[in-house]
Amino acid sequence: MTTVLIILHLGGNVHLVGDEIHMTDASGTVVHVGHNDMSHVRHRGSHPEPHPKREQSGWVAYADWYNTGKSPISNFVTSWPVPAAPKTYSGQTVFLFNSIEPASGNAILQPVLQYGVSAAGGGKYWSIASWYLVGSQTYFTYLTKVQPNQVLNGVITLTSITNSTAYNYVSEFKGISRSKITATGAEQLVWATETLESYSVQQRSDYPTGSTVFSGIGIKTKAGVPKVTWSTVSDSADGLKTKVNTQGATNAKITIQY
Ligand SMILES: *[C@@H]1O[C@H](CO)[C@@H](O)[C@H](O)[C@H]1NC(C)=O
Repeated sequence: MTTVLIILHLGGNVHLVGDEIHMTDASGTVVHVGHNDMSHVRHRGSHPEPHPKREQSGWVAYADWYNTGKSPISNFVTSWPVPAAPKTYSGQTVFLFNSIEPASGNAILQPVLQYGVSAAGGGKYWSIASWYLVGSQTYFTYLTKVQPNQVLNGVITLTSITNSTAYNYVSEFKGISRSKITATGAEQLVWATETLESYSVQQRSDYPTGSTVFSGIGIKTKAGVPKVTWSTVSDSADGLKTKVNTQGATNAKITIQY
């Protein structure tokens, strides 16, 4: 009843939009970029920047692993707790998620925790939804409000392979059926990440305090457990730091420090 199931038949409809996916809501207020480009700072059309030196936007801290093996990723799980609310609210949007993208960078599938408003809705609270962005199109499930300290389990699963160019996936938060999104006919998803993405952060206190620990990170391929080494990227100018506490494909642990 509450499950949102968006079935996508992409086939010839996939079109490349450079190397990133860029999306705003109807009012142009919220931006969501699904690629690892830290150089951009998006301007929000009708909202001039209130501070000359704004914090960086986009993927400000993340860890990633690219599957170059022959066997496709079949399962990617991550657990993390909902942080306490940021001390200040300046209209920022903070996203925390595990995600997976195809080699083309033209799509992203992700179970997303957000604070603030996004195209999916939200407000001055934490909420979760699964997202699938492909080309210029964006799909997401209903948002579900979540509470600080609640432990989330983001799960991305390869459910079947139709043929070499049509892979079928599900993204969901375990136990929250209305966060489940289905993507069929996708390109093979090869690039796995653990990410902090943010927009319109004006000051450090717009982030949560302390750190977020992504744990129980597991990646499986159809052939078994791959050899995984996580790399990290951090926007250190804003004091953010990504750290790999435990490497590997089983029970890996990655900390993002605010
Ligand atoms: C793969 O399957 C999709 C979806 O059924 C179909 O549209 C496409 O033509 C198929 N491609 C090949 C190469 O068979």
